[in-house]
Amino acid sequence: EKSGFKHFMLKEIYEQPKAVGDTIRGLMSSGEEPPFSLKSFRRILIIACGTSYHAGLVGKFWIEKLAGVPTEVVYASEFRYGDFPVGEEDLIIGVSQSGETIDTKFAVNFARERGARTLSIVNVVGSSIDRESDYTLHTHAGPEIGVAATKTFTAQLAALYFLASTEHPDRYKLLEELFKVPARIERTLEKSEAIEKLADRYMNRRDFLYLGRYLSYPIALEGALKLKEISYIHAEGYPAGEMKHGPIALIDEKMPVVVLAPQDRVYDKTLANIEEVKTRKGKVIGVGFEGDDKLEKLCNEFIGVPPIEEDFTPFLTVVPLQLLAYHIASKLGLDVDQPRNLAKTVTVE
Ligand code: M6R
Repeated sequence: EKSGFKHFMLKEIYEQPKAVGDTIRGLMSSGEEPPFSLKSFRRILIIACGTSYHAGLVGKFWIEKLAGVPTEVVYASEFRYGDFPVGEEDLIIGVSQSGETIDTKFAVNFARERGARTLSIVNVVGSSIDRESDYTLHTHAGPEIGVAATKTFTAQLAALYFLASTEHPDRYKLLEELFKVPARIERTLEKSEAIEKLADRYMNRRDFLYLGRYLSYPIALEGALKLKEISYIHAEGYPAGEMKHGPIALIDEKMPVVVLAPQDRVYDKTLANIEEVKTRKGKVIGVGFEGDDKLEKLCNEFIGVPPIEEDFTPFLTVVPLQLLAYHIASKLGLDVDQPRNLAKTVTVE
């Protein structure tokens, strides 16, 4: 049931405050604490595909910051055929909305057979990855129908933050902050109309670049994935600092560049990247904090999200990118919920 929304994807974007809130509450009330200490592992490997991989990239920063354990994020399809030394000293975190993605399932099982402990973050209770892992943290996003992952992504972020903070001395303070996220997502959703107007102006572009640093880098990747999978417009996500090592050659007056620039530790560096784009006449669509006049003046277009502590910025900055992809695809008259060539769950290698 689309409950009055034109597409499931839009409905699911709007369900994010609830998905994140339910996930935090669900994990807290069920006392779902992993039966082992993150710090007891020499290394954590996060294994996932697609959007779940992007959630993993954000999770890596949080785990390294809050738990201090070196963490790598690997594409499930690459993990199996590489020669990763993996064993008892490793914790494997499999992230999968469906819990059925074949590459992720194989990779997690491969690591378990070699003695690693396995923890999964899944949305579907009773799915293969849920059943086959040593331990599971469930996201409580509810069923996701649209092929494009939206609410399950922000719910995965909530579960990853919850996990990263388990052994932190200020855990309760951190979780209190996390509980503020759903209301801020709600406020971010109010930007939908403005983003729809932006979509009118940019829907006929052929290529987009998405840039971000640190926690915003995975969000740049996720924004580009959302746009390409539902609108069939070519989009690339890049760490903003890598731009001058190649992609800058693509920039001219026809290239919209979406830059994530919340006021975090890399804010000044990101502003410098925006200047570089502007010098090449690229059109900058900036996503940053409401009231950031300096950023707004620098950009051709500006979307403000409510200010929030650095750690939580990904929960908010991803929302305008989901909406931008959605409105563009919808205006192009495409089958937003069931894009060509894609399946909701990828059960082939
Ligand atoms: O069910 P999973 O989380 O394992 O799925 C992984 C990817 O197939 C999935 O995130 C895919 O990239 C989405 N269509 C992205 O919107």
